[in-house]
Amino acid sequence: MGRIFSGVQPTGNLHLGNYLGAIRNWVRLQDEFDDCLFCVVDLHAVTVWQDPVELQANTREVCAAMIAAGIDPAKNVIFNQSRNSAHAELAWIFNCVARMGWLNRMTQFKEKAGKNRENASVGLFAYPNLMAADILAYRGTHVPVGDDQKQHLELARDIAQKFNNDFGVDFFPVVEPLIFGEATRVMSLKDGSKKMSKSDPSDQSRITLTDDADAFAKKGRKARTDPLPLPDDPKDLADRPEAANLLGIYAALADRPLAEVLTQHGGGQFSGFKQDLADLMVAKLQPITGEMRRLGDDPGYIDGVLAEGAERARALSDPVMDRVFDIVGFLRG
Ligand code: TYM
Repeated sequence: MGRIFSGVQPTGNLHLGNYLGAIRNWVRLQDEFDDCLFCVVDLHAVTVWQDPVELQANTREVCAAMIAAGIDPAKNVIFNQSRNSAHAELAWIFNCVARMGWLNRMTQFKEKAGKNRENASVGLFAYPNLMAADILAYRGTHVPVGDDQKQHLELARDIAQKFNNDFGVDFFPVVEPLIFGEATRVMSLKDGSKKMSKSDPSDQSRITLTDDADAFAKKGRKARTDPLPLPDDPKDLADRPEAANLLGIYAALADRPLAEVLTQHGGGQFSGFKQDLADLMVAKLQPITGEMRRLGDDPGYIDGVLAEGAERARALSDPVMDRVFDIVGFLRG
């Protein structure tokens, strides 16, 4: 039915947003598509400074998280991006296809570069071109991600279309974002207006996949809420971002529609609900964190998965890149 490509950066602090917004959806999609490639995007990670030793550890950790969450490495292609040079090669071609004006509009660059834009790396600015290359080096058709990647995927569609137009071909597909579930944008536990993120200085702002049961309970209990009781209608959550966030997390973890969760909990106090949420996090996440720890003790296995995945990835991208070089007019072999 098509080919899935998606990725996670190995920048540490893998969190509940990464799991509910992306990885868990990948687990569900793996049986519905012909091929699925799940990539640890180390080339993207180095657009901001990474300690080399930590980068290696974080790359293994993301791979372990994917497998622990239920992605089958025998059926799917799990690998780290830098092992397949097609990503960097196609990204260069896309650097020459995409326009400065398009990249200037990317909100994530503005957020990440902050006030000091002059000092941001060129890689951080060109980051979305590399993302388009990740997907299109395999002529990927579907991309399951969290809500924050929507704008980058619109850019990938523009790049594919411009490449096709410029060269008069119908070669790259127009990629389809897959953004679904009750938690496509998980917010910080400390501030409902901020996205849960790996880089927030406060560890209390996020649930990570390396937390233990105590941390789940403590962070669940301490999460910011408002003084009102839980509403019973989703419409009443519009101006209650912290409440909406915790209820969305609960619905996603329980695998139930938000409206149904409100029918059950509406009118109740947050203290009781937070205890239920903490119990649910322990029940749903502890098996994954436990398996991650077990896999973490076996780096040889993880390295084997990544190396074999890269070989399969290269076999899929080689024919695409041969055709790309031919279309662009590069003389080869
Ligand atoms: P990254 O590493 O920031 O996040 C990995 C995935 O987790 C999702 N996500 C969230 N979902 C819900 N709530 C949140 N708070 C939250 N935070 C993160 C992201 O949407 C993402 O799906 N640029 C990408 C990685 C990438 C990629 C690609 C993705 C590189 N190449 C090609 C798809 C296709 C990123 O930085 O993800």
